[in-house]
Parts: sequence; C-alpha cells; structure tokens
Amino acid sequence: PGGGNVSFLLDGEIVSVTAGATDSVLDLLRYKLRRTGTKEGCAEGDCGACTVLLGDPDGEAVNWRAVNACILFVPMLDGKALKTVESLSAGGDLHPVQREMIDRHGSQCGFCTPGFVMSLYGRSVGAAGTTGEPVADVIAGNLCRCTGYGPILEAGEAVPA
Ligand code: FES
Ligand code: FES
Repeated sequence: PGGGNVSFLLDGEIVSVTAGATDSVLDLLRYKLRRTGTKEGCAEGDCGACTVLLGDPDGEAVNWRAVNACILFVPMLDGKALKTVESLSAGGDLHPVQREMIDRHGSQCGFCTPGFVMSLYGRSVGAAGTTGEPVADVIAGNLCRCTGYGPILEAGEAVPA
C-alpha cells in the first residue's frame, strides 16, 4: 500500500497516523509514539531487537505473528493490531515471560531483551509458526551477544505455550 492515513489498534486503542509509504514501524514507535522499549539493532531485519507482534483481526480473535518492526512499513499496519513490549506490563505487572527472564538471568546488557520477550510472548499466545515448535526455533531470529542463550531458552521453556 502507498502512504497516507493509517489506522490500527494498539493495546485496544485506535491509533491514526499519517505516514509515508516506506516509513518504518520502528521509527513510528520510537519517535512518534514514544514506545522506546522496541530497540533498533541492525535496522535490516537480522537481529530481532525490534520484534513486535502484528495481529490480523479475525472476528473476535486476533491472529498474531512476530515481526521485525524495522522492516515493516507503517501502511502495512492499516486495519491491523499491534503489540509492543510495553503492552505486556500495561496493567503494572510483568508478564510471566518477563518474570522468567529476570529470575533466570536471561538479560545482561538488556538491549536484546525486549525482542526476546516479544518472541517468547508470541509463543505464549500461539503466534503464527510457534505452535509445537521448540523454543530455540521461536527465538531463532533474535540475537544476543551477552548471555549465551541458555538462560533465555530456560525462561522460554518455563512459560506454557
Ligand atoms: Fe535488527 Fe530490526 S533492528 S531486526
Ligand atoms: Fe546483551 Fe542480549 S543481554 S545482547
């Protein structure tokens, strides 16, 4: 789709923005909506630091999938739903995925953490391609330079899919 007016659901609220055809969802989140939990690592779809969930409404349900916000264009949000890492603690409590990441020391410098959390959260809500998949495959698109992945895998295993 081209640029123009784009409307989507963010945590149940309708957000309407004007965007160019190639404006990235990552920049929209960080610079316009001030959702800076979503990080920019590589900015080219390789590291997963910018992982968010994109939802296709399907009646009462929403079919979620984890995507890289850095290579998702804002017009592609039109009519869709979006969740960012901020969505998980909107009520003030951490999501079990976040709690397990803390308890198992799955975060060191922390830069990759929001992306891992969103991939693992996607698994907990049955996001596309996660059902019945090993945790290692669910986080295959997320890179971490600090932890060696073991604690992150343990955190993922500890949360029911
Ligand atoms: Fe690396 Fe988006 S910033 S995949
Ligand atoms: Fe530092 Fe993952 S905790 S990159």
